[in-house]
Amino acid sequence: MSLPRAIVLLTLTASLIAAAILLWGGSVDRGSGPITTDSPAQDRDTLVERGRYLAVAGNCASCHTAPNGEFMAGGLAFDTPFGVIYSTNITPDGGTGIGSWSDRDFLNSMRHGIRANGDHLYPVFPYTSFTGISNEDIAALYAYLMSIPAVIRDNRDNDIRFPFNMRSLMAFWKVMFFEPGAYEVDTRHSDEWNRGAYLVEALAHCSACHTPRNLLGAEQRHRNMAGGEYSDKVAPGVNRPWSAPNLTASDRGLGSWSQADLTAYLKTARNDFLESFGPMNEVIMHSTRHLSDNDIQAMAVYLKTLPAVEPPLPEEPDSVVLGRGRTIYNLHCGTCHLPTGEGDPEMAPRLNKGSLVVQADNPASMINAILYGPQAPSPALPPRWRKPMEEFQYILDDDEVSAVTTFIRHSWDNRAGPVTAEQVARQRAE
Ligand code: HEC
Ligand code: HEC
Ligand code: HEC
Repeated sequence: MSLPRAIVLLTLTASLIAAAILLWGGSVDRGSGPITTDSPAQDRDTLVERGRYLAVAGNCASCHTAPNGEFMAGGLAFDTPFGVIYSTNITPDGGTGIGSWSDRDFLNSMRHGIRANGDHLYPVFPYTSFTGISNEDIAALYAYLMSIPAVIRDNRDNDIRFPFNMRSLMAFWKVMFFEPGAYEVDTRHSDEWNRGAYLVEALAHCSACHTPRNLLGAEQRHRNMAGGEYSDKVAPGVNRPWSAPNLTASDRGLGSWSQADLTAYLKTARNDFLESFGPMNEVIMHSTRHLSDNDIQAMAVYLKTLPAVEPPLPEEPDSVVLGRGRTIYNLHCGTCHLPTGEGDPEMAPRLNKGSLVVQADNPASMINAILYGPQAPSPALPPRWRKPMEEFQYILDDDEVSAVTTFIRHSWDNRAGPVTAEQVARQRAE
């Protein structure tokens, strides 16, 4: 590191620390004592059962259970721009889990991102969404977590770069980017809409992946659900970027789906356009498909009202590249997806319209589907396609993938920008 850069970094760090210390008191409005809720006391079994449902809606297990690890005992690695962060043991073991926490301690972690010992938590744990969960639901989640088997498993140390490894700096981050508070009903809208907003924005934390983040890892609220990027582990030690597409009413986003398309997708991992693959497999298979029809309906009602946030106007692709892309498409893709892009009910989904992944400004997920094949959800769904799509990573080079991707994104009803060979190469990097 050159000297000027070191000085800039040191000054920056020093001022951040100073600011953090100054702001420390005001940023943490923790309560004390047991949680008060509005509802009459429920019997314990009912509370635990409700907590179980809420834990599914919040997909806690997907992040807190490592592959082949014990339920909710943590240890799953998250690759962030700031380093690797591991999820923690949230079983009721007193020593290594959260068994010694009161319901108030638990509320402080979910609503304020603070551990029982006062440490700030990192927002990989989506408390920027969970903060909206009601006291009642937090009490139910607490009762449920206290009812699952306790597992003795020490938390793994994170591997985060300086200065981000200093948890105290999160106080500063929170002042800038975090608004704690339970969801407040918007009386201009129906009960159904409010239920949907509560589920989507708080418990199901769709924005954690679908909202773009700034350089300090905070969600950009003014571009809520306009499309984000997410790095997912695809094999031990191998992470790959995925683009989570635009869920606002843009024609290149959810604007192209009806409410029924959306409920079918969240409930069954399929709809008339396509089938789930990539990180959405976990979201749907572990979480949304287990939710009640009313809750899924409410989520769809809310999502369909998100005001359009339009992506930047795409550049016009080069006509030579489009020509090459068409030739590659007709040779390698048209047999299943048809030359018209309309797809075939038994062979392949349509690519001519309705795919948010194809239309996304960031082509990462589309390129992943082409290079590695769209990996089917697990557990397996009833068979639909005659043959899985192959992995084109060994068949096409970066220029060819970029040409065919550019062609599909610019053909039929699609209007997304060209894709470069560098963007393809990035998806191949390990
Ligand atoms: C996107 C992944 C993700 C999801 C979903 C998630 N968590 Fe976490 N959680 C984490 C990570 C990572 C940490 C550790 C953060 C840190 O070290 O600062 C954490 C920490 C926590 C903690 C603090 C415990 C401690 O001392 O570290 C609690 C409590 C918790 N999560 C509960 C939950 C509950 C309840 C749910 C479901 C409603 C949930 N989490 C869903 C990733 C997740
Ligand atoms: C862990 C990150 C993550 C979370 C959480 C998440 N998504 Fe996604 N979503 C993605 C990614 C990545 C894609 C594109 C690739 C794929 O389908 O997996 C996607 C794609 C989608 C699509 C478009 C599917 C297509 O193929 O056109 C919809 C609709 C969607 N998500 C809705 C939701 C909703 C609703 C929620 C909240 C319940 C949600 N997502 C939560 C990462 C996420
Ligand atoms: C053997 C038939 C077959 C061939 C050939 C084929 N595909 Fe596919 N493709 C499929 C099937 C089946 C799916 C759906 C699987 C799934 O999503 O789980 C799919 C899905 C996709 C998707 C994801 C669509 C979405 O929005 O979810 C893209 C993008 C795609 N194919 C592009 C291509 C390209 C580009 C080629 C040629 C280089 C190609 N396919 C060749 C069968 C095929």
